[in-house]
Amino acid sequence: MTTLPPARGPLSHAVVSALRGGPETLPSGESRAEVRAADPWGDDLHLALYVLYELHYRGFDAVADDREWDPELLALRGELEAVFLDALRAGTPDGRAAARALDELLVEPVDHTGSVSHHLAVEGELWQVREYAALRSLYHLKEADPHLWVVPRLRGRAKAAMVAVEYDEFGAGRPERIHARLFADLMSDLGLDNTYGHYLDRAPAPALAAVNLMSLFGLHRALRGALVGHFAAVEITSPPGSRRLAAAMRRLGAGAAAEHFYAEHVEADAVHEQVVRHQLVTGLLTDEPHLDADVAFGADATGLVEERLARHLLAAWNGERSALLPRVDGLTHGSTGSPPDGSPDSHNWARWAPLRRTLPM
Ligand SMILES: [Fe+2]
Ligand SMILES: [Fe+2]
Repeated sequence: MTTLPPARGPLSHAVVSALRGGPETLPSGESRAEVRAADPWGDDLHLALYVLYELHYRGFDAVADDREWDPELLALRGELEAVFLDALRAGTPDGRAAARALDELLVEPVDHTGSVSHHLAVEGELWQVREYAALRSLYHLKEADPHLWVVPRLRGRAKAAMVAVEYDEFGAGRPERIHARLFADLMSDLGLDNTYGHYLDRAPAPALAAVNLMSLFGLHRALRGALVGHFAAVEITSPPGSRRLAAAMRRLGAGAAAEHFYAEHVEADAVHEQVVRHQLVTGLLTDEPHLDADVAFGADATGLVEERLARHLLAAWNGERSALLPRVDGLTHGSTGSPPDGSPDSHNWARWAPLRRTLPM
């Protein structure tokens, strides 16, 4: 289990304190207006959401399992999700066809300037690859888990296709081949700590948002179309990106397991892409044609959060800065707005020097 992370502002402070059983009360009534005014891409909102979602995965040390269904926490989660969803809808095209959104993903952009995998394959340095893996670990150590939540909501062809792909993601009956396990092995090759959730307190909002997106889609039956669109986008874009990341691992001598994780995805996702497009998406839209625009939304929202993460990583690296947040032991810290009253926090992220010289992480 993971340790509760330090808060990054009033919302995450309220959530973490409530889970610690502290005296703080969750935002209610009037102060719910504060939630609605929160930065939908900010550290505070995304950490609060991430922590609330984690209750549905493995939870936290010293937090009772049944807090997963605490009505007050769920009500707050709903408010945070509404803010995030509004931003996702505002940042994606409205009501376009699923086929169009998915077709666009098949075309590799000619301009590579915003692509992390191109950067890492061609000129990335080992410390950047390690940072990439540390931040991606929040996603890959959960790989395929939230997608399973959609299974009871599908039927027939779509259900069979989803389970067939998930069977591969979970190692086809062999625990050592579970994709999350392969990623843990990659982390070992890179000298990273592969404990589940280890880098949560180092992950900035864009990395948390990528995980929150799949949790959001996975947990809501109303967003089943978006979940399928998200899954399709991941599988369709994976083979070319994985090929470049395998090349980056090879060029930098990262190790056999590091290269294997991405090489495995070049092969596996080429098959998954076909099953997802022709069985899962087609099956779902045959059963429920009214979900067409939701599938497109899920794919487009995935592109949006991935683009934001790529911008964050490349901006940091181009400036010779770490893309990770500094680890702050025992302190509550805030990156948005003022720290909660009484918190020991007076930090400003910009104060920290680049961390890349202080690796290992
Ligand atoms: Fe996978
Ligand atoms: Fe896959």
